[in-house]
Amino acid sequence: MDRLTVNARLMIVSDLDHTMVDHHDPENLSLLRFNTLWEANYRSNSLLVFSTGRSPTLYKELRKEKPMLTPDITIMSVVTEITYGNSMEPDNGWVECLNQKWDRNIVLEETSKISELTLQSETEQRPHKVSFYVQKDKAEDITRSVSACLKKRGLDVKIIYSGGMDLDILPQCAGKGQALAYLHDKFKAEGKLPENTLVCGDSGNDADLYTIPDVHGVMVSNAQEELLQWHGIYAKNNPKIIHAKERCAAGIIEAIGHFNLGPCISPRDVTDLSDSKLETFDPAYEVVKFYLFYERWRLAEVENSELYLANLKAVCASSLIMLLQSKSGIFVHPSGIEKHLHECVDSLRTSYGDQKGQPFRVWVDQVLPVLVGSDSWLVKFKKWEQSGGERLCCLTTALLSSKDVTVADGLTWVHVHQTWFKEAGPGGDAQWLF
Ligand code: GLC
Ligand code: MG
Repeated sequence: MDRLTVNARLMIVSDLDHTMVDHHDPENLSLLRFNTLWEANYRSNSLLVFSTGRSPTLYKELRKEKPMLTPDITIMSVVTEITYGNSMEPDNGWVECLNQKWDRNIVLEETSKISELTLQSETEQRPHKVSFYVQKDKAEDITRSVSACLKKRGLDVKIIYSGGMDLDILPQCAGKGQALAYLHDKFKAEGKLPENTLVCGDSGNDADLYTIPDVHGVMVSNAQEELLQWHGIYAKNNPKIIHAKERCAAGIIEAIGHFNLGPCISPRDVTDLSDSKLETFDPAYEVVKFYLFYERWRLAEVENSELYLANLKAVCASSLIMLLQSKSGIFVHPSGIEKHLHECVDSLRTSYGDQKGQPFRVWVDQVLPVLVGSDSWLVKFKKWEQSGGERLCCLTTALLSSKDVTVADGLTWVHVHQTWFKEAGPGGDAQWLF
């Protein structure tokens, strides 16, 4: 993990199902609120870690279904697989640890004798994870007997019951907590231990995340009985763990505020973005704000006012002279066509409210600004747009400049260049404005 040259300001380690992702929120509002907060305030100096029971196959399915950000570290199959970055490079050191006192064939042989255990799908069976479904009332007894018999066969396993139905058998050193401890040790060795770590979960396989020293923890409001019970027994008096009032990602935002870990107001919760007072130029915030406005414009959630378009034009010229001459920076559309940014702003006029009442959403992911001169930033990000069932994404680079403007004016968009993202380009002709 060498994206950061110094220690992260905040590392969030979050479970996905029913924690980061709310399966009862078809509009994904709390997830989108979290995304906007993260990209505007944390992405460039913090680390996002997803820790899920899902195998790589089911993790990828979830990413297609939900507007999820790209994490810096992905921990899958209840931590039996740790991977880094966009290319998901596996951590081979971790695999060595998992091999100790583990033999998958013996686990399969012994468990096949127990009729109450139903194997989960093939995709969820991994080299270091054997997973079943089991009824709630049978879980405790079965855990005890499987544990004893595998011990007799010389294995050292961990059995975890989650979500009131899933039973995972894993090597003893697996577990979300151990994986976090392993990461912390790695960061410490590099002198880059995060300033703060916040762990977030809702079910049994998340419990040991909260046992790692010095971490802050949030159990989201909708946490499962088994996690709350565990907390009642082992961690009741720990002030660093809260049971949030809010569900899922909204509970994570609540915890950031509760523990004072940094900004906790999502730009999505700010109605008038032009009102927000910045103290310094902030290219990531500028990008987040622009696309939030764009979404609201097409949903008719802001007023249909020429003033907004005029303001946009003002930030799309690279100098006052250019503005007076009605010239502006260049936008390279993903189709390869070049336009002036002012033309693009003009084309917004006719698209006001064209997505009203539709499940239309726009979000930005991995917004990473790099200072490329005394007054310019190159900001690279993925811009996602979901309209109905179709979801498109462009890798985007924007050159933003603070030359001749004040913080209150906002940065100037000098040049924007977009390319279809390989996994999410259009099948045919797509309507894509920005
Ligand atoms: C996910 C996995 C499943 C596992 C469960 C609990 O749902 O797909 O295999 O049993 O998490 O860890
Ligand atoms: Mg969960």
